[in-house]
Amino acid sequence: MDNSSSRHPFLAGLSKHRGAPPTIVVIFGASGDLTARKLIPAIYNLACDNLLPSDFHLVGFGRSKVPDEEFRKLAEEAITQFSRRPYQEEIWKRVAERTFYEAGGYDEGEAFVRLRERIESIEKSLGNPVQSLFYVSTPPSVFRPILEGLGSSGLAKRHRGTDRASKVIIEKPFGRDLASAQELNRVVASVFEEKQVFRIDHYLGKETVQDLLVQRFANTIFEPIWNRRYVDCVQITVAEDLGVGTRGGYYEQSGAMRDMIQNHTMQLLALTAMEPPVSLDPESVRDEKVKVLKAIRPLDLSLEEGDVVRGQYAEGLIGGKKVPGYTQEQGVKEESTTETYTALRLKISNWRWEGVPFYLRSGKRMARRVSEIAIQFKRPPGHLFAESDLIQVSPNTLAFQIQPDEGSTVLLNSKIPGLETRVQPVKMHFRYKTTFGSNTPEAYERLVLDAMIGDGTLFIRGDETEASWKLVTPVHEWWNSLGIRGMETYAAGSWGPLAAERLLWKNKHQWRRP
Ligand code: NDP
Ligand code: BG6
Repeated sequence: MDNSSSRHPFLAGLSKHRGAPPTIVVIFGASGDLTARKLIPAIYNLACDNLLPSDFHLVGFGRSKVPDEEFRKLAEEAITQFSRRPYQEEIWKRVAERTFYEAGGYDEGEAFVRLRERIESIEKSLGNPVQSLFYVSTPPSVFRPILEGLGSSGLAKRHRGTDRASKVIIEKPFGRDLASAQELNRVVASVFEEKQVFRIDHYLGKETVQDLLVQRFANTIFEPIWNRRYVDCVQITVAEDLGVGTRGGYYEQSGAMRDMIQNHTMQLLALTAMEPPVSLDPESVRDEKVKVLKAIRPLDLSLEEGDVVRGQYAEGLIGGKKVPGYTQEQGVKEESTTETYTALRLKISNWRWEGVPFYLRSGKRMARRVSEIAIQFKRPPGHLFAESDLIQVSPNTLAFQIQPDEGSTVLLNSKIPGLETRVQPVKMHFRYKTTFGSNTPEAYERLVLDAMIGDGTLFIRGDETEASWKLVTPVHEWWNSLGIRGMETYAAGSWGPLAAERLLWKNKHQWRRP
Protein backbone atom coordinates (compact mmCIF):
# COMPACT_ATOMS: atom_id res chain seq x y z
CA MET A 1 0.00 0.00 0.00
CA ASP A 2 1.23 3.50 -0.81
CA ASN A 3 1.33 5.24 2.53
CA SER A 4 3.12 8.36 1.32
CA SER A 5 0.08 10.51 2.05
CA SER A 6 -0.10 9.30 5.62
CA ARG A 7 3.51 10.39 6.07
CA HIS A 8 2.83 13.90 4.87
CA PRO A 9 2.69 16.26 7.88
CA PHE A 10 -0.12 18.42 6.47
CA LEU A 11 -2.32 15.34 6.30
CA ALA A 12 -0.99 13.54 9.30
CA GLY A 13 -1.93 16.32 11.71
CA LEU A 14 -0.30 17.28 14.95
CA SER A 15 0.54 13.77 16.08
CA LYS A 16 3.31 13.64 13.46
CA HIS A 17 4.60 16.96 14.75
CA ARG A 18 5.70 15.18 17.88
CA GLY A 19 8.65 14.09 15.77
CA ALA A 20 10.32 17.54 15.83
CA PRO A 21 14.04 17.13 16.60
CA PRO A 22 15.63 18.84 19.62
CA THR A 23 15.43 22.52 18.79
CA ILE A 24 16.74 25.89 19.96
CA VAL A 25 14.46 28.69 18.78
CA VAL A 26 16.28 32.02 18.55
CA ILE A 27 14.04 35.08 18.20
CA PHE A 28 15.66 38.20 16.73
CA GLY A 29 13.62 41.21 17.86
CA ALA A 30 12.69 39.47 21.11
CA SER A 31 11.66 42.70 22.86
CA GLY A 32 9.14 43.46 20.10
CA ASP A 33 5.40 43.54 19.70
CA LEU A 34 5.06 40.36 17.61
CA THR A 35 7.19 38.36 20.04
CA ALA A 36 5.00 39.37 22.97
CA ARG A 37 1.61 39.11 21.29
CA LYS A 38 2.09 36.03 19.13
CA LEU A 39 5.39 34.15 19.33
CA ILE A 40 5.79 33.59 23.07
CA PRO A 41 2.08 32.69 23.47
CA ALA A 42 2.44 30.26 20.53
CA ILE A 43 5.40 28.54 22.20
CA TYR A 44 3.50 28.40 25.48
CA ASN A 45 0.45 26.80 23.82
CA LEU A 46 2.65 24.26 22.08
CA ALA A 47 4.05 23.44 25.51
CA CYS A 48 0.48 23.04 26.83
CA ASP A 49 -0.21 20.56 23.99
CA ASN A 50 3.02 18.75 24.73
CA LEU A 51 4.20 19.44 21.20
CA LEU A 52 7.57 21.03 21.93
CA PRO A 53 10.56 18.74 21.48
CA SER A 54 11.83 17.45 24.81
CA ASP A 55 15.10 19.37 24.57
CA PHE A 56 13.45 22.61 23.47
CA HIS A 57 15.32 25.85 24.32
CA LEU A 58 14.42 29.47 23.64
CA VAL A 59 16.91 32.30 23.17
CA GLY A 60 15.81 35.90 22.76
CA PHE A 61 18.15 38.23 20.87
CA GLY A 62 18.05 42.03 20.62
CA ARG A 63 19.86 45.28 21.14
CA SER A 64 18.20 45.97 24.48
CA LYS A 65 20.24 44.69 27.41
CA VAL A 66 17.85 42.29 29.13
CA PRO A 67 19.04 39.80 31.78
CA ASP A 68 17.78 36.19 31.32
CA GLU A 69 15.54 36.50 34.37
CA GLU A 70 13.89 39.67 33.09
CA PHE A 71 13.27 38.11 29.68
CA ARG A 72 11.56 35.16 31.38
CA LYS A 73 9.42 37.60 33.36
CA LEU A 74 8.47 39.51 30.18
CA ALA A 75 7.56 36.22 28.53
CA GLU A 76 5.36 35.28 31.48
CA GLU A 77 3.57 38.63 31.26
CA ALA A 78 3.07 38.16 27.52
CA ILE A 79 1.47 34.77 28.13
CA THR A 80 -0.78 36.14 30.86
CA GLN A 81 -1.92 38.94 28.58
CA PHE A 82 -2.11 37.32 25.14
CA SER A 83 -2.29 33.53 25.32
CA ARG A 84 -5.51 31.81 24.24
CA ARG A 85 -5.10 29.53 27.25
CA PRO A 86 -4.68 30.85 30.80
CA TYR A 87 -1.16 31.00 32.23
CA GLN A 88 -0.18 27.89 34.22
CA GLU A 89 3.04 28.20 36.12
CA GLU A 90 3.95 24.51 36.07
CA ILE A 91 3.82 24.43 32.25
CA TRP A 92 5.74 27.64 31.62
CA LYS A 93 8.32 26.83 34.30
CA ARG A 94 9.60 23.90 32.24
CA VAL A 95 10.19 26.20 29.24
CA ALA A 96 11.40 29.16 31.33
CA GLU A 97 14.21 27.05 32.81
CA ARG A 98 15.52 26.71 29.26
CA THR A 99 14.96 30.31 28.20
CA PHE A 100 17.84 32.78 27.79
CA TYR A 101 18.58 36.18 26.32
CA GLU A 102 21.56 37.34 24.27
CA ALA A 103 22.11 41.08 23.80
CA GLY A 104 23.78 42.39 20.67
CA GLY A 105 23.50 44.49 17.53
CA TYR A 106 21.98 42.92 14.43
CA ASP A 107 25.02 43.97 12.39
CA GLU A 108 27.58 43.14 15.07
CA GLY A 109 29.69 40.17 14.01
CA GLU A 110 30.86 39.55 17.58
CA ALA A 111 27.25 39.21 18.77
CA PHE A 112 26.63 36.38 16.32
CA VAL A 113 29.80 34.64 17.51
CA ARG A 114 28.50 34.92 21.11
CA LEU A 115 25.17 33.52 19.96
CA ARG A 116 26.91 30.61 18.34
CA GLU A 117 28.86 29.92 21.51
CA ARG A 118 25.63 30.02 23.50
CA ILE A 119 24.02 27.50 21.13
CA GLU A 120 27.06 25.24 21.25
CA SER A 121 27.14 25.30 25.01
CA ILE A 122 23.44 24.30 25.19
CA GLU A 123 24.16 21.53 22.70
CA LYS A 124 27.11 20.33 24.76
CA SER A 125 24.99 20.19 27.90
CA LEU A 126 22.46 18.02 26.03
CA GLY A 127 25.10 15.76 24.55
CA ASN A 128 23.18 15.64 21.26
CA PRO A 129 23.14 17.72 18.08
CA VAL A 130 20.27 20.25 18.10
CA GLN A 131 18.72 22.15 15.25
CA SER A 132 18.59 25.94 15.46
CA LEU A 133 15.47 27.71 14.25
CA PHE A 134 16.13 31.43 13.80
CA TYR A 135 13.00 33.59 13.82
CA VAL A 136 13.67 37.00 12.24
CA SER A 137 11.03 39.16 13.92
CA THR A 138 12.54 42.61 13.51
CA PRO A 139 11.61 45.49 11.23
CA PRO A 140 12.56 44.57 7.64
CA SER A 141 15.39 47.13 7.59
CA VAL A 142 17.54 44.68 9.56
CA PHE A 143 16.56 41.41 7.83
CA ARG A 144 19.65 41.62 5.65
CA PRO A 145 22.33 42.14 8.36
CA ILE A 146 20.75 39.35 10.43
CA LEU A 147 20.88 36.93 7.49
CA GLU A 148 24.46 37.96 6.76
CA GLY A 149 25.39 37.54 10.43
CA LEU A 150 23.93 34.02 10.38
CA GLY A 151 26.05 33.33 7.31
CA SER A 152 29.38 34.79 8.45
CA SER A 153 29.17 33.23 11.94
CA GLY A 154 28.57 29.78 10.45
CA LEU A 155 25.22 29.50 12.27
CA ALA A 156 23.33 28.99 9.00
CA LYS A 157 25.46 25.98 8.07
CA ARG A 158 25.27 24.07 11.34
CA HIS A 159 24.42 20.40 10.78
CA ARG A 160 23.59 21.01 7.12
CA GLY A 161 22.76 17.77 5.34
CA THR A 162 21.25 16.23 8.49
CA ASP A 163 17.80 16.45 10.08
CA ARG A 164 19.28 18.99 12.53
CA ALA A 165 20.15 21.58 9.85
CA SER A 166 19.51 25.21 10.84
CA LYS A 167 16.31 26.85 9.64
CA VAL A 168 15.18 30.44 9.37
CA ILE A 169 11.71 31.98 9.55
CA ILE A 170 11.59 35.41 7.93
CA GLU A 171 8.76 37.78 8.80
CA LYS A 172 6.88 39.90 6.35
CA PRO A 173 7.02 42.18 4.45
CA PHE A 174 9.60 40.33 2.37
CA GLY A 175 10.99 43.34 0.48
CA ARG A 176 9.15 46.54 -0.41
CA ASP A 177 9.06 46.10 -4.19
CA LEU A 178 10.13 43.60 -6.81
CA ALA A 179 13.79 44.71 -6.90
CA SER A 180 14.25 44.62 -3.11
CA ALA A 181 12.48 41.24 -2.84
CA GLN A 182 14.79 39.85 -5.53
CA GLU A 183 17.79 41.29 -3.71
CA LEU A 184 16.63 39.81 -0.40
CA ASN A 185 16.11 36.45 -2.11
CA ARG A 186 19.71 36.64 -3.37
CA VAL A 187 20.99 37.33 0.15
CA VAL A 188 18.88 34.46 1.52
CA ALA A 189 20.21 32.11 -1.18
CA SER A 190 23.82 33.11 -0.47
CA VAL A 191 23.41 31.99 3.16
CA PHE A 192 20.76 29.23 3.21
CA GLU A 193 19.50 26.46 0.98
CA GLU A 194 15.85 27.05 0.04
CA LYS A 195 14.67 24.08 2.12
CA GLN A 196 16.06 25.81 5.22
CA VAL A 197 14.01 28.95 4.54
CA PHE A 198 10.48 29.68 5.83
CA ARG A 199 9.02 33.00 4.61
CA ILE A 200 6.04 33.43 6.85
CA ASP A 201 2.58 34.68 6.01
CA HIS A 202 0.56 33.99 9.12
CA TYR A 203 -2.71 33.86 7.15
CA LEU A 204 -1.60 30.47 5.82
CA GLY A 205 -1.46 29.19 9.39
CA LYS A 206 -5.08 30.08 10.10
CA GLU A 207 -7.28 27.00 10.46
CA THR A 208 -9.86 28.38 8.05
CA VAL A 209 -7.28 29.03 5.35
CA GLN A 210 -6.05 25.44 5.61
CA ASP A 211 -9.66 24.34 5.51
CA LEU A 212 -10.04 26.08 2.17
CA LEU A 213 -7.66 23.47 0.73
CA VAL A 214 -9.64 20.69 2.37
CA GLN A 215 -13.05 22.01 1.34
CA ARG A 216 -11.89 22.54 -2.25
CA PHE A 217 -10.09 19.27 -2.72
CA ALA A 218 -11.75 16.81 -0.34
CA ASN A 219 -15.24 17.41 -1.78
CA THR A 220 -16.33 16.63 -5.31
CA ILE A 221 -19.28 19.01 -5.50
CA PHE A 222 -17.21 22.15 -5.97
CA GLU A 223 -14.76 21.26 -8.74
CA PRO A 224 -17.29 21.06 -11.63
CA ILE A 225 -18.54 24.58 -10.91
CA TRP A 226 -15.23 26.15 -9.83
CA ASN A 227 -14.59 27.94 -13.11
CA ARG A 228 -15.65 30.64 -15.55
CA ARG A 229 -18.71 28.73 -16.74
CA TYR A 230 -20.41 29.05 -13.34
CA VAL A 231 -18.55 31.69 -11.33
CA ASP A 232 -19.55 35.28 -11.91
CA CYS A 233 -16.97 36.92 -9.65
CA VAL A 234 -14.84 36.29 -6.59
CA GLN A 235 -14.63 38.78 -3.73
CA ILE A 236 -11.87 38.64 -1.14
CA THR A 237 -12.20 40.96 1.84
CA VAL A 238 -9.71 41.43 4.66
CA ALA A 239 -11.19 44.22 6.75
CA GLU A 240 -10.07 45.49 10.14
CA ASP A 241 -11.85 47.86 12.48
CA LEU A 242 -8.60 48.78 14.24
CA GLY A 243 -6.51 51.73 13.11
CA VAL A 244 -2.72 51.76 12.95
CA GLY A 245 -2.47 52.13 16.74
CA THR A 246 1.14 52.49 17.86
CA ARG A 247 2.50 51.18 14.55
CA GLY A 248 2.20 54.49 12.68
CA GLY A 249 5.95 54.67 12.03
CA TYR A 250 5.99 51.22 10.43
CA TYR A 251 2.74 51.78 8.56
CA GLU A 252 3.95 55.03 6.98
CA GLN A 253 6.61 52.94 5.20
CA SER A 254 4.12 50.28 4.27
CA GLY A 255 0.44 51.08 3.60
CA ALA A 256 -2.39 48.64 2.94
CA MET A 257 -0.92 47.33 -0.31
CA ARG A 258 2.40 46.25 1.20
CA ASP A 259 0.99 45.35 4.62
CA MET A 260 -1.97 43.21 3.56
CA ILE A 261 -2.61 42.93 -0.18
CA GLN A 262 0.81 41.83 -1.47
CA ASN A 263 0.88 38.98 1.01
CA HIS A 264 -2.25 37.93 2.93
CA THR A 265 -4.94 38.70 0.34
CA MET A 266 -2.84 37.50 -2.61
CA GLN A 267 -2.28 34.22 -0.78
CA LEU A 268 -6.02 33.84 -0.27
CA LEU A 269 -6.50 34.48 -3.96
CA ALA A 270 -3.82 31.96 -4.92
CA LEU A 271 -5.36 29.19 -2.80
CA THR A 272 -8.82 29.95 -4.18
CA ALA A 273 -7.83 30.11 -7.83
CA MET A 274 -4.99 27.59 -8.18
CA GLU A 275 -5.33 24.26 -9.96
CA PRO A 276 -5.44 21.12 -7.80
CA PRO A 277 -1.84 20.30 -6.85
CA VAL A 278 -0.57 16.80 -7.71
CA SER A 279 0.11 16.25 -4.02
CA LEU A 280 0.20 18.21 -0.79
CA ASP A 281 3.96 18.34 -0.63
CA PRO A 282 5.29 21.91 -0.32
CA GLU A 283 6.66 22.17 -3.86
CA SER A 284 3.48 20.94 -5.57
CA VAL A 285 1.26 23.36 -3.66
CA ARG A 286 3.63 26.27 -4.22
CA ASP A 287 4.09 25.45 -7.92
CA GLU A 288 0.33 25.83 -8.40
CA LYS A 289 0.20 29.08 -6.45
CA VAL A 290 3.03 30.57 -8.51
CA LYS A 291 1.31 29.51 -11.75
CA VAL A 292 -1.87 31.32 -10.90
CA LEU A 293 -0.08 34.42 -9.60
CA LYS A 294 1.81 34.59 -12.89
CA ALA A 295 -1.46 34.32 -14.83
CA ILE A 296 -2.82 37.57 -13.34
CA ARG A 297 -2.83 40.28 -15.99
CA PRO A 298 -1.00 43.57 -15.33
CA LEU A 299 -3.38 46.06 -13.73
CA ASP A 300 -4.96 48.91 -15.64
CA LEU A 301 -3.52 51.97 -13.92
CA SER A 302 -5.76 54.92 -14.68
CA LEU A 303 -7.71 57.14 -12.35
CA GLU A 304 -11.25 56.91 -13.67
CA GLU A 305 -11.64 53.45 -15.17
CA GLY A 306 -8.61 51.64 -13.77
CA ASP A 307 -8.36 48.49 -11.64
CA VAL A 308 -7.04 50.10 -8.45
CA VAL A 309 -8.57 52.27 -5.73
CA ARG A 310 -6.75 53.59 -2.66
CA GLY A 311 -8.10 55.47 0.31
CA GLN A 312 -7.21 56.91 3.70
CA TYR A 313 -9.51 56.91 6.69
CA ALA A 314 -10.83 60.16 8.05
CA GLU A 315 -12.20 60.48 11.56
CA GLY A 316 -15.38 58.58 12.24
CA LEU A 317 -17.17 56.29 14.65
CA ILE A 318 -16.11 52.78 15.66
CA GLY A 319 -18.46 51.02 18.05
CA GLY A 320 -20.18 54.35 18.69
CA LYS A 321 -16.90 56.00 19.74
CA LYS A 322 -15.21 58.82 17.85
CA VAL A 323 -11.78 57.85 16.47
CA PRO A 324 -9.19 60.08 14.76
CA GLY A 325 -8.38 60.08 11.07
CA TYR A 326 -5.19 58.44 9.82
CA THR A 327 -3.19 61.66 9.54
CA GLN A 328 -3.93 62.44 13.20
CA GLU A 329 -2.49 59.10 14.36
CA GLN A 330 0.75 58.94 16.33
CA GLY A 331 3.83 58.69 14.05
CA VAL A 332 1.91 59.68 10.89
CA LYS A 333 2.77 62.76 8.81
CA GLU A 334 -0.02 65.31 8.41
CA GLU A 335 0.52 65.32 4.65
CA SER A 336 0.87 61.52 4.45
CA THR A 337 0.13 59.84 1.13
CA THR A 338 0.03 56.36 2.68
CA GLU A 339 -3.09 54.37 1.82
CA THR A 340 -4.98 52.62 4.61
CA TYR A 341 -7.36 50.96 2.12
CA THR A 342 -6.82 49.30 -1.24
CA ALA A 343 -9.25 47.64 -3.61
CA LEU A 344 -8.23 45.84 -6.78
CA ARG A 345 -9.98 44.28 -9.76
CA LEU A 346 -7.86 41.42 -11.05
CA LYS A 347 -8.16 39.35 -14.18
CA ILE A 348 -6.66 35.90 -14.35
CA SER A 349 -5.76 34.85 -17.84
CA ASN A 350 -6.12 31.09 -17.92
CA TRP A 351 -8.65 28.45 -19.00
CA ARG A 352 -10.34 28.26 -15.65
CA TRP A 353 -10.79 31.95 -14.90
CA GLU A 354 -10.72 34.00 -18.11
CA GLY A 355 -13.40 36.71 -17.81
CA VAL A 356 -14.09 36.23 -14.08
CA PRO A 357 -13.17 39.34 -12.09
CA PHE A 358 -11.43 38.78 -8.75
CA TYR A 359 -12.08 41.72 -6.42
CA LEU A 360 -9.71 42.19 -3.51
CA ARG A 361 -10.02 44.77 -0.75
CA SER A 362 -8.31 45.40 2.53
CA GLY A 363 -8.47 48.33 4.90
CA LYS A 364 -8.03 49.59 8.42
CA ARG A 365 -10.81 51.27 10.40
CA MET A 366 -13.54 49.63 8.38
CA ALA A 367 -17.06 48.89 9.59
CA ARG A 368 -16.04 45.65 11.22
CA ARG A 369 -13.28 43.08 11.46
CA VAL A 370 -14.01 40.42 8.91
CA SER A 371 -12.02 38.34 6.43
CA GLU A 372 -13.81 36.25 3.87
CA ILE A 373 -13.58 34.73 0.42
CA ALA A 374 -16.87 34.78 -1.48
CA ILE A 375 -17.46 32.88 -4.69
CA GLN A 376 -20.46 34.42 -6.42
CA PHE A 377 -22.12 32.22 -9.02
CA LYS A 378 -23.95 33.23 -12.17
CA ARG A 379 -27.70 33.75 -12.05
CA PRO A 380 -29.83 30.93 -13.46
CA PRO A 381 -30.65 31.23 -17.16
CA GLY A 382 -34.22 31.75 -18.38
CA HIS A 383 -37.06 33.60 -16.76
CA LEU A 384 -38.99 31.00 -14.79
CA PHE A 385 -39.26 33.38 -11.88
CA ALA A 386 -38.97 36.66 -13.71
CA GLU A 387 -42.67 37.32 -14.33
CA SER A 388 -43.35 38.82 -10.97
CA ASP A 389 -41.74 41.89 -9.45
CA LEU A 390 -42.06 40.11 -6.13
CA ILE A 391 -39.45 37.59 -7.10
CA GLN A 392 -35.81 38.55 -6.71
CA VAL A 393 -33.45 35.71 -7.48
CA SER A 394 -30.10 36.40 -5.81
CA PRO A 395 -26.86 34.90 -7.11
CA ASN A 396 -25.83 31.76 -5.25
CA THR A 397 -22.79 32.53 -3.15
CA LEU A 398 -20.35 30.33 -1.29
CA ALA A 399 -18.52 32.34 1.36
CA PHE A 400 -15.63 31.13 3.48
CA GLN A 401 -15.47 33.15 6.68
CA ILE A 402 -11.79 33.24 7.59
CA GLN A 403 -12.44 35.28 10.76
CA PRO A 404 -14.15 35.96 13.06
CA ASP A 405 -17.07 33.53 13.40
CA GLU A 406 -15.10 31.05 11.30
CA GLY A 407 -17.03 28.80 8.94
CA SER A 408 -18.69 28.81 5.56
CA THR A 409 -22.07 29.82 4.22
CA VAL A 410 -23.99 28.92 1.09
CA LEU A 411 -26.60 31.36 -0.10
CA LEU A 412 -29.53 29.72 -1.92
CA ASN A 413 -32.92 30.94 -3.14
CA SER A 414 -35.91 29.39 -1.47
CA LYS A 415 -39.69 29.69 -1.60
CA ILE A 416 -41.31 31.60 1.20
CA PRO A 417 -44.13 29.36 2.51
CA GLY A 418 -47.52 30.57 1.32
CA LEU A 419 -49.98 30.42 -1.54
CA GLU A 420 -48.08 32.86 -3.72
CA THR A 421 -44.67 32.05 -5.12
CA ARG A 422 -42.25 34.38 -3.45
CA VAL A 423 -38.52 33.78 -3.30
CA GLN A 424 -36.08 34.70 -0.58
CA PRO A 425 -32.35 34.10 -0.30
CA VAL A 426 -31.59 31.77 2.62
CA LYS A 427 -28.29 30.76 4.18
CA MET A 428 -26.87 27.35 5.00
CA HIS A 429 -24.21 27.77 7.66
CA PHE A 430 -21.31 25.69 8.86
CA ARG A 431 -19.73 27.14 12.00
CA TYR A 432 -16.46 25.89 13.47
CA LYS A 433 -17.51 26.84 16.98
CA THR A 434 -20.73 24.83 16.81
CA THR A 435 -19.17 21.78 15.18
CA PHE A 436 -15.70 21.62 16.68
CA GLY A 437 -15.74 23.89 19.76
CA SER A 438 -13.84 27.13 20.00
CA ASN A 439 -10.30 26.38 21.15
CA THR A 440 -8.52 26.19 17.79
CA PRO A 441 -4.76 26.76 17.58
CA GLU A 442 -3.46 30.18 16.59
CA ALA A 443 -1.72 30.50 13.23
CA TYR A 444 1.73 31.01 14.77
CA GLU A 445 1.48 27.75 16.74
CA ARG A 446 1.00 25.75 13.59
CA LEU A 447 3.66 27.63 11.65
CA VAL A 448 6.40 27.55 14.29
CA LEU A 449 5.80 23.82 14.65
CA ASP A 450 5.80 23.25 10.88
CA ALA A 451 9.13 25.06 10.60
CA MET A 452 10.55 22.92 13.43
CA ILE A 453 9.71 19.77 11.50
CA GLY A 454 10.80 21.34 8.19
CA ASP A 455 7.42 21.38 6.44
CA GLY A 456 7.22 24.39 4.12
CA THR A 457 3.73 23.77 2.69
CA LEU A 458 2.24 26.75 4.52
CA PHE A 459 5.15 29.10 3.81
CA ILE A 460 5.98 31.27 0.81
CA ARG A 461 8.61 30.33 -1.74
CA GLY A 462 10.96 32.98 -3.14
CA ASP A 463 9.43 32.97 -6.64
CA GLU A 464 5.94 33.26 -5.16
CA THR A 465 6.72 36.47 -3.33
CA GLU A 466 8.39 37.86 -6.47
CA ALA A 467 5.34 37.04 -8.61
CA SER A 468 3.18 38.97 -6.19
CA TRP A 469 5.56 41.96 -6.07
CA LYS A 470 5.65 41.99 -9.85
CA LEU A 471 1.95 42.76 -9.85
CA VAL A 472 1.94 45.44 -7.15
CA THR A 473 5.23 47.26 -7.81
CA PRO A 474 3.91 49.16 -10.88
CA VAL A 475 1.02 50.36 -8.70
CA HIS A 476 3.43 51.86 -6.18
CA GLU A 477 5.40 53.52 -9.00
CA TRP A 478 2.17 54.96 -10.37
CA TRP A 479 1.04 56.19 -6.95
CA ASN A 480 4.45 57.82 -6.41
CA SER A 481 3.99 59.74 -9.64
CA LEU A 482 0.50 60.85 -8.56
CA GLY A 483 1.36 62.10 -5.06
CA ILE A 484 -1.92 62.68 -3.26
CA ARG A 485 -3.97 62.74 -6.50
CA GLY A 486 -6.47 59.92 -6.62
CA MET A 487 -6.32 59.31 -2.86
CA GLU A 488 -9.92 58.77 -1.71
CA THR A 489 -11.07 59.26 1.84
CA TYR A 490 -13.52 57.20 3.84
CA ALA A 491 -14.99 57.72 7.26
CA ALA A 492 -13.60 55.42 9.95
CA GLY A 493 -16.29 52.81 10.58
CA SER A 494 -17.51 52.73 6.97
CA TRP A 495 -16.98 50.11 4.25
CA GLY A 496 -14.36 52.18 2.41
CA PRO A 497 -14.47 54.86 -0.30
CA LEU A 498 -17.25 55.20 -2.84
CA ALA A 499 -14.72 54.78 -5.64
CA ALA A 500 -14.31 51.17 -4.53
CA GLU A 501 -18.03 50.63 -5.11
CA ARG A 502 -17.68 52.10 -8.62
CA LEU A 503 -14.88 49.64 -9.34
CA LEU A 504 -17.48 46.86 -9.32
CA TRP A 505 -20.38 48.65 -10.99
CA LYS A 506 -18.65 48.45 -14.36
CA ASN A 507 -19.27 44.67 -14.28
CA LYS A 508 -22.70 45.09 -12.64
CA HIS A 509 -21.37 43.72 -9.36
CA GLN A 510 -21.41 45.11 -5.88
CA TRP A 511 -19.40 44.45 -2.75
CA ARG A 512 -20.92 42.13 -0.23
CA ARG A 513 -21.61 43.42 3.28
CA PRO A 514 -20.15 40.49 5.18
P1 NDP B 1 8.84 45.98 16.47
O1 NDP B 1 8.81 47.36 15.90
O2 NDP B 1 8.19 45.77 17.80
O3 NDP B 1 10.37 45.57 16.51
C1 NDP B 1 10.84 44.34 17.04
C2 NDP B 1 12.18 44.58 17.71
O4 NDP B 1 13.15 44.88 16.72
C3 NDP B 1 12.18 45.74 18.66
O5 NDP B 1 11.73 45.38 19.93
C4 NDP B 1 13.63 46.15 18.66
O6 NDP B 1 14.36 45.31 19.53
C5 NDP B 1 14.06 45.84 17.25
N1 NDP B 1 14.00 47.04 16.42
C6 NDP B 1 12.98 47.90 16.27
N2 NDP B 1 13.29 48.87 15.40
C7 NDP B 1 14.52 48.61 14.97
C8 NDP B 1 15.39 49.25 14.06
N3 NDP B 1 15.02 50.34 13.40
N4 NDP B 1 16.60 48.71 13.86
C9 NDP B 1 16.96 47.62 14.50
N5 NDP B 1 16.18 46.97 15.38
C10 NDP B 1 14.98 47.45 15.61
O7 NDP B 1 8.28 44.99 15.39
P2 NDP B 1 7.12 43.93 15.50
O8 NDP B 1 7.42 43.01 16.63
O9 NDP B 1 5.83 44.62 15.46
O10 NDP B 1 7.26 43.16 14.11
C11 NDP B 1 8.35 42.33 13.84
C12 NDP B 1 8.23 41.80 12.43
O11 NDP B 1 7.02 41.06 12.32
C13 NDP B 1 8.13 42.89 11.36
O12 NDP B 1 8.77 42.44 10.22
C14 NDP B 1 6.64 43.02 11.11
O13 NDP B 1 6.36 43.47 9.80
C15 NDP B 1 6.19 41.57 11.29
N6 NDP B 1 4.79 41.44 11.70
C16 NDP B 1 4.35 42.08 12.82
C17 NDP B 1 3.05 41.94 13.22
C18 NDP B 1 2.55 42.60 14.45
O14 NDP B 1 1.34 42.50 14.71
N7 NDP B 1 3.39 43.27 15.24
C19 NDP B 1 2.09 41.10 12.46
C20 NDP B 1 2.68 40.44 11.32
C21 NDP B 1 3.98 40.62 10.97
P3 NDP B 1 15.72 45.75 20.21
O15 NDP B 1 15.75 47.25 20.29
O16 NDP B 1 15.67 45.10 21.55
O17 NDP B 1 16.78 45.20 19.34
C1 BG6 C 1 -0.30 41.85 9.85
C2 BG6 C 1 -0.33 43.30 9.51
O1 BG6 C 1 0.43 41.15 8.90
O2 BG6 C 1 -1.62 41.33 9.88
C3 BG6 C 1 -1.20 44.07 10.49
O3 BG6 C 1 0.99 43.83 9.56
C4 BG6 C 1 -2.57 43.44 10.57
O4 BG6 C 1 -1.32 45.43 10.09
C5 BG6 C 1 -2.46 41.95 10.83
O5 BG6 C 1 -3.29 44.08 11.61
C6 BG6 C 1 -3.82 41.30 10.75
O6 BG6 C 1 -3.71 39.96 11.16
P1 BG6 C 1 -4.97 39.19 11.77
O7 BG6 C 1 -4.46 37.82 11.99
O8 BG6 C 1 -5.32 39.92 13.03
O9 BG6 C 1 -6.04 39.30 10.75
